[in-house]
Amino acid sequence: MLLQHINPSPKTAWISSMVWKCIAKLPSLSEEDMLAAKLDGKDIAVFKLGDRYYATSNICSHQYALLTDGYLDGDVIECPLHQGRFHIPSGKALGDPVTEDLAVYPVRVENDEIQVEWPEA
Ligand code: FES
Repeated sequence: MLLQHINPSPKTAWISSMVWKCIAKLPSLSEEDMLAAKLDGKDIAVFKLGDRYYATSNICSHQYALLTDGYLDGDVIECPLHQGRFHIPSGKALGDPVTEDLAVYPVRVENDEIQVEWPEA
């Protein structure tokens, strides 16, 4: 019998190991608020809408602009550069000039921390 040693590719291992990482401490956001954060060098936007938290990429998918410099309108964030709009809970691009959705990350609150599910480094 031939035994093969199978090593997962680094990419496979990266995808399969998710952990919860602290992105902000409570209470850092009031209701209907947002903040810019960095996680492993990536720009993340953290939103509080009512009593729920959301996290998305903080970089507009159209060109380079930080969404947290934009305008929060209910559950929609409007980009400060060309006024592209995204639905925060889904990351969905809501029309011209934005056509590409935002990355959305699972969020939980644990031990007074806002945590984002993130690939283990
Ligand atoms: S950079 Fe955001 S809409 Fe153009």
